[in-house]
Amino acid sequence: MAYLEDMPSNIPEKVMPITQADSLEWLQQQGPEFIKLMSYYRCAMMEIETKFHVLDVEYSLLHHRNPISAIKSRLKTPSSIQDKLKRRGIPCTLETVEKNLMDVAGVRVICSFNEDVYTLADALLRQDDITLISRKDYIADPKENGYRSLHLIVSVPIFLASEKRQMMVEIQLRTIAMDCWATLEHQLRYKKNRQFTREMAQELYECAWMSAHLDQRMDALRQQVEQEDERGQEDENQ
Ligand code: GTP
Ligand code: MG
Repeated sequence: MAYLEDMPSNIPEKVMPITQADSLEWLQQQGPEFIKLMSYYRCAMMEIETKFHVLDVEYSLLHHRNPISAIKSRLKTPSSIQDKLKRRGIPCTLETVEKNLMDVAGVRVICSFNEDVYTLADALLRQDDITLISRKDYIADPKENGYRSLHLIVSVPIFLASEKRQMMVEIQLRTIAMDCWATLEHQLRYKKNRQFTREMAQELYECAWMSAHLDQRMDALRQQVEQEDERGQEDENQ
């Protein structure tokens, strides 16, 4: 790869967004192989994004609505890769990154309705090039603080010029309401690395409960609308 000689000033944006100066220095120490690995993660992320875009198009053709409201992807930054391994007391090498970190590549799929989360997850997992590594259903079984989402770790092949490589991707599927709660909770938590007081945690939990309730009501409305549409269709056909 020609661009590797240009480091550090010209690490391609397509491979990773470099934001921290400390990461740059660290990247130089790791050498070109690390950048190559990060580019593989980016490719895997793109594969997964495309799979969801395809499902969204197909679904909207069949059902005349979009199950996906937005897709957000991110690559873990070098410094947060380093930090995570350090916290676990693991040295940072190419091998340890691949073996221990399942969330270097992350794809978040924000769905319109609760049911869409499961429809999309099932459709993805049925694809014969996708291998499920782990599944955590925080919708059926929310976290203690109220956090809800469906988490999948999958392995997906990327096809390079002369090899095929399996890469791990973390997928988080959630509704708009779940995403709203998680985004705001994350913002509040990371403001000055704050610990929530018991009252704040309770308030957040109640907000999570309200968002779950909102999802239920919207899902019920969707079912009603779809039933009426079906009835209208039947009447037209008679
Ligand atoms: P990590 O070491 O953070 O990856 O945790 P884990 O391996 O136990 O995985 P888990 O599936 O619990 O969480 C992975 C990711 O889900 C996190 O990095 C967040 O993006 C998201 N997440 C999990 N719990 C919360 C939460 O309480 N609030 C918010 N806002 N996001 C969460
Ligand atoms: Mg994580």
